[in-house]
Amino acid sequence: SLVARQRFLQSTCIFTRHFSKTSQSNAKVAVLGASGGIGQPLSLLLKINPAITKLALYDIANTVGVAADLSHCSTVAQVTGYEGASQLRECLEGCDVVVIPAGVPRKPGMTRDDLFNTNAGIVRDLADACAQYCPKAMICVICNPVNSTVPIASEMFKKRGVYDPNRIFGVTTLDIVRSDTFISQAKGLDVSQVNCPVIGGHSGTTIIPVISQCSPPVNFPLDVHEKLTARIQNAGTEVLEAKAGTGSATLSMAYAGARFVGSVIDGLNGVDGIVECAFVRSDETEAKYFSTPLLLGKNGVEKNLGLGKLVDIEVDLIKAAIPELKKNIEKGEEFAHAGD
Ligand code: NAI
Repeated sequence: SLVARQRFLQSTCIFTRHFSKTSQSNAKVAVLGASGGIGQPLSLLLKINPAITKLALYDIANTVGVAADLSHCSTVAQVTGYEGASQLRECLEGCDVVVIPAGVPRKPGMTRDDLFNTNAGIVRDLADACAQYCPKAMICVICNPVNSTVPIASEMFKKRGVYDPNRIFGVTTLDIVRSDTFISQAKGLDVSQVNCPVIGGHSGTTIIPVISQCSPPVNFPLDVHEKLTARIQNAGTEVLEAKAGTGSATLSMAYAGARFVGSVIDGLNGVDGIVECAFVRSDETEAKYFSTPLLLGKNGVEKNLGLGKLVDIEVDLIKAAIPELKKNIEKGEEFAHAGD
């Protein structure tokens, strides 16, 4: 049983190390939409990140129970629950990172843009509160349509005069997680060693896997390459249909969100070489916001690593995505200024 105990301790250690490369931190992280399908497992994964000492859970319903439940896990983070708009300020004050999985998810047959009418207002109000109560925090937007909600959040920060483009991220990590998984399966590789950038936006054809830059390098015949690209672009719909009306991707999104927040915190802690793709304000293409690999640091985006070398099919995918991206971005910006 001593051997079993040692094994258990080792596995716990590996598990926590996966989410953070440093344990010297006292980050306060808020999850807005913490009671939801993504919010609950995401909060659980953040609770086991040793770099997080304060975990503030906010939702319009059910946070008291979720916070009580999570607070019994024997890890360092102190969990507090906040319910309803009157408690949002207290939740946000002192935050280093805010992650936003609030909002309605897709049902089968819906596009991410179909969520705009409901979710745009949610992100507008939550981002405005962040701009007031934690203007320096790293804002990680999960709520869809990400191509529009990131511009909305950015405009709200501008309105309060506290905008820093290096601190507002659309979380696209699930697209990377999916491409790493599918590629490793196709090639029989150890998935923990596979890293394939996914650039562009986070909806349908704006999701652009850059398989030519995969590490380790992989090669597919053109038809297989195209099928793989299409599967990565439609993977969200694959889950939506499998769940048959009961929800969209929640567990894999929680996993991806916890990885992204862990990387942002590692950056804040000065860990070298932390790179993640995310949808940010960008000068890399004609679209004002675009996802590319980013070097993360103490002030958020330290350096945009850009598009890199692309093959013809990838260049064509970007060209095809730009009009849709521009439309989504403008729609978000217009919404944010509708009442001005
Ligand atoms: P859900 O409906 O299970 O949970 C949403 C939660 O948000 C609920 O607990 C609800 O009470 C809360 N909420 C609603 N309005 C709020 C407000 N004003 N303030 C705070 N909380 C509020 O939905 P689920 O499955 O967790 O999805 C959440 C969002 O994440 C959706 O917009 C979905 O499209 C998006 N998503 C994004 C992905 C990405 O890759 N970026 C992947 C999967 C989903």
